Formats: sequence, C-alpha cells, structure tokens
Amino acid sequence: MVRCSAPGKIILFGEHAVVYGEPAVAIAIDKRFRCEMSFTHGDVTTINGMVFDPEKQNYLDRAMVKLGIDESLEIYTSTELMSGAGIGSSAAVTVASLGCLFGLKGDVDKGTIAKTAFEVEYEVQGGASPIDTSTSTQGGCVVISSSKGPGYLWGVSKRGTTWNIHESDIPKLKLVLGNTGVHSPTGKLVGKIRQFYKRSDYAKDIVQEMGVLVQKGHQALKDEDLEGVGRLMDQNQRLLSCLGASHPKLDALIDAAREHSYGAKLTGVGGGGVMIALTDEPEETSKAIEGAGGKAYILSSTKRGLSFE
Ligand code: MEV
Repeated sequence: MVRCSAPGKIILFGEHAVVYGEPAVAIAIDKRFRCEMSFTHGDVTTINGMVFDPEKQNYLDRAMVKLGIDESLEIYTSTELMSGAGIGSSAAVTVASLGCLFGLKGDVDKGTIAKTAFEVEYEVQGGASPIDTSTSTQGGCVVISSSKGPGYLWGVSKRGTTWNIHESDIPKLKLVLGNTGVHSPTGKLVGKIRQFYKRSDYAKDIVQEMGVLVQKGHQALKDEDLEGVGRLMDQNQRLLSCLGASHPKLDALIDAAREHSYGAKLTGVGGGGVMIALTDEPEETSKAIEGAGGKAYILSSTKRGLSFE
C-alpha cells in the first residue's frame, strides 16, 4: 500500500502567459489532496468504496493509463481543496495519484512525477503549463523561466515551448484568498484565451508584457519590497482583464480588498474562481472580501510538496 499527499497552489504572477512560455511565480498552500492505493485481487478498481468511473475521475484515469496500470486497485482519497477555483486541485489530485502509482511500481523520482503530471493535465485540459503540477510536486515557491538559473530543478518541453522549473526562496507573505463561488474549469478558459492569442497581436503583446512584469515581481519578492509586489499584482490584474481572464465578481472582490492591501489580483485561471490580496491586515481584508460577497480565507504557504505518508 502507498499513501501520499500533495498541496494546492496559488500563482502570484504570470498565469495564462506561462502557457506560452513566459515566466511565472507560484507558491504551494497548506491545503492538500490525500490518496492511498493498493493492488487488489478483485475484478474492479474501486475508489472510496465505489466502482471507479474513468469519466468522473479523469485525471486519475489518465495517470493510470500513462503508467500502463492493468491491475485492479483499491483507492481512497480525501481533499481539502475546492475544484474549479484556481487553487490547483486537479494538479494536487494528479501529483498525489502519480506518487501512489509510481510508488506501487517502486520507482519514485520527483522530476519524473512532475513531468508526467504535466502530461496528464495537458491531455485532460487540452493544454496547460507545468506551473501547477511542478509547484504541487516541489512545494515552497516555484519559478518558471525560459532560461536556466539558480535553483534549477527540471525542464519540461512541449510543442516547441520549454519551461525551466526552479525553486526560489521568498519571504513568508500574508495573503488572503477570496472565492467568488463561480465555478471556472481551467481547460475552457485556457482554450478561449488561446484562440485570442493565436489571432491577435494585441493579445501577444499583453502576454509579453506579463512576462516582463513577472520578472520584476519575482525580484520585488526576493527584495521583500511588498509595496512593489502589490503594485505589480495590480498591474498583472489589469493585463489579465485585457486578456479576458477576469469576471465582474472577481473585480468586485479585488476592489474591496485593495483598501487594506498592497495589491490584489485573480489567481489561477480566473473567469470566476478566486483572487488573492497581499496585506498586513488579513482580518480587515477578509471582512472587506466577505462584505463584497466573497468567501475569504487567510492563506498559509507550505514548503511541503508531494509527501509519502
Ligand atoms: C492555472 O492554474 C494556470 C493557467 O496559467 C493554466 C496553466 O498554466 O496550465 C491559467
């Protein structure tokens, strides 16, 4: 039997642009997906006592296909992550499931798990970058860039784009998450923005501008320049809105949070889902978000990525 868990994530800078090879910065959050698997002598694979349904459990199913698992499995799962919100629920499911499956085969290497998890997300969502799956695997702060630098972990390539994954040391941040309650599946909006990107030079310029902004944002994080980080978060939000990734409910929560924070932006896919605010006043920021109709959570980051338990 193998038991493991993997965390969700939030993207501080660079969502969407990272799909086209631009840099991004993300941190793992202290909310996890847990999974336990063992081979069984039964005829069918079960999950939490029910017959496994490949349509419903599409990430897990694709992970099993990728590893060529033919045997029946007994699987138990539990999660602290809401899905379709932009906090990396599907990445955590994929990474923890692959951790168990690789573990059952007796071959556990984090780089291989992260790369396979990216392939799974890419196939299920019809396109993705490795930011969610690598952050869930590694934990802490993960930075993607087009070139290799200090803290390099592994590289991922797909259809002419190469993403170099790095770990980075940044100070602990006080962040508040605001959930709009609007479900937003990642694949759908990523696909819509891809069409915009392909057809429009304006969209390509926005994506490039985001890349420059992410590098400044990472530097401001390392310098502990919270005012600078907040300003860049606000700018990143404006660019995400121009790409069509925001939503009126996100805008309302972001506006409300800004009164008590350095900066605020959507995080993850957008189109609903969640926003984050960087603040010294987490209680006041939470109240402002709730006053604007959102559900607020004070976030804790974690250094713990994929863990075998
Ligand atoms: C989703 O958490 C982040 C996106 O950039 C998609 C991806 O990178 O796979 C929107």
